[in-house]
Amino acid sequence: MKMTNRWNRLIYCLWAPIYDSTVNHFFMPGRRRALELLDLQCGEKVLLVGVGTGADLPLLAAGVDATGIDLSPEMLAQVRLKLDRCPATVKLIRGDAQTQLVEQASFDAVILNLVLSVIPDGNACLKFALRALKPGGRVVIFDKFLPDGQNPSLARKILSVFSTLFGTDINRRLSDLLKDCPCAITHAEASIAGGTYRVVMLQKFFERYSVKRE
Ligand SMILES: C[S@@+](CC[C@H](N)C(=O)[O-])C[C@H]1O[C@@H](n2cnc3c(N)ncnc32)[C@H](O)[C@@H]1O
Repeated sequence: MKMTNRWNRLIYCLWAPIYDSTVNHFFMPGRRRALELLDLQCGEKVLLVGVGTGADLPLLAAGVDATGIDLSPEMLAQVRLKLDRCPATVKLIRGDAQTQLVEQASFDAVILNLVLSVIPDGNACLKFALRALKPGGRVVIFDKFLPDGQNPSLARKILSVFSTLFGTDINRRLSDLLKDCPCAITHAEASIAGGTYRVVMLQKFFERYSVKRE
């Protein structure tokens, strides 16, 4: 089964009222580490793609200028409930983060926590994020991926049918998602669930690589 926007809208409508009180506790250590590595500075602009209920937002410092995008109006409604606990300034956009929703090269950093395994086309989402970044800008990813070069076992394939029903795909490889993306991995480390989840930092290239014509 493949993730679709239609399914995500339905499943995240159901997750919205219970996300923070259930699964989010499990994710907190990875989330904290991702933001620590991103090391946002006062005055920086950060884009949170698939912001969800805004669980990252209370962890951002005052002076940070945050924009959150999400497909689900119910998830965004949960963000609004916690805005008074967010020291950063926060703007919200409802839309599909596989399309061009924000100005090109306008952000210093992007947070892709738990979204690349959810959004139907993770490669399109990464390209969207990198387009939004200024040259040299940084991306942090906290998510679960199939190890590079590994094919999913039968058990993992079966499990993935259920995980997809609950709104996440466990069989994506980061190397596939990064195909043709103008960036480099600058850091990667194992995170929660015995390293099933990882925290990865990317940096956008400063210049577009062009093909030299002879
Ligand atoms: C697992 S939640 C993660 C939320 C948040 N980033 C976090 O760390 O808790 C995935 C989020 O991606 C959003 N999403 C799914 N498809 C999307 C799309 N095409 N565009 C934008 N957001 C999307 C869902 O609505 C959901 O809020």
